[in-house]
Amino acid sequence: MKERIIIIGANGQIGSELALALRQKFGSDNVITSDIRVPEILKEGEIFETINVLDKQAVKALLEKYKPTQIYLLAAMLSATGEKYPQKAWDLNMNGLLNVLDLAIELSIKKIFWPSSIAVFGPNSPKSNTPQYCVMDPNSIYGISKLAGERLCEYYHEKYDLDIRSVRYPGIISWKTAPGGGTTDYAVDIFFEGIKHDKYDCFLSANTELPMLYMDDAVRGTIELMDAPAEQLSIRSSYNLAGISFTPAMIAEEIKKILPNFEISYVDNDPRQAIADSWPGSIDDSQARKDWNWEPTFDLKTMTEDMIKNLKTKL
Ligand code: SER
Repeated sequence: MKERIIIIGANGQIGSELALALRQKFGSDNVITSDIRVPEILKEGEIFETINVLDKQAVKALLEKYKPTQIYLLAAMLSATGEKYPQKAWDLNMNGLLNVLDLAIELSIKKIFWPSSIAVFGPNSPKSNTPQYCVMDPNSIYGISKLAGERLCEYYHEKYDLDIRSVRYPGIISWKTAPGGGTTDYAVDIFFEGIKHDKYDCFLSANTELPMLYMDDAVRGTIELMDAPAEQLSIRSSYNLAGISFTPAMIAEEIKKILPNFEISYVDNDPRQAIADSWPGSIDDSQARKDWNWEPTFDLKTMTEDMIKNLKTKL
């Protein structure tokens, strides 16, 4: 079957790079990007539509116009911004998902990708090597919306036979598009500031360990999950996905090996610390490895080298 893909929320950190990869795989004609904001650059042959995912009629018109076989729903408000605007975060993250799921049933669009997050875990979840199934008591509105979203995805899969696929992304590290409003954003900011000013004032404490993943692995993994035969997938809520776990002190050490003058300092009392403290430090992703052969390729060293090399050219 010829695939045609619509990405909703395509201008964000993950969407912008997934769009590149999907255009390469399926051709620009078959990948439609959409977002509430118009992108800064649109290359020739790229198709873009402005859309607010909360405007269900507009989303319906978009889907009727392009008749996609797959939808990637990436529009969401992340953890730190969510704490500033909890009602808006809940509205966007839940009703955006419900709009897409209901329209997918109405218009017979079977295959959907929707990202969950390590934010679905909470203070009573095991901290280290957090398993796929365990106590989940998220205490950020973002995490609560993602956990509810996971349950909806599994429910719609069971009840309506939608082929929804999902991963619990850790913090994603990338140099092309910056993240916005997340708790793991420090691990991207540190490179931008390190290269520009040789120093970084970190909003998380030195020993806060969080699970992270390099963008190249995240994009490849996402497409591999979407390509996997449906019968191999045993999880229809969302797969744990792991890459590299580290602390601000560890990544600063690694950056120093390439930028010897780099210095890190730490800010006290940032509200993102409490969010980070409620999340796992590392993740057990054995089910993803087993079901669809997931394997990350970047470690802390190779990721740091690649980030600095690319950012030096970019900046
Ligand atoms: N990167 C996200 C955040 O920090 C986690 O999914 O909010």
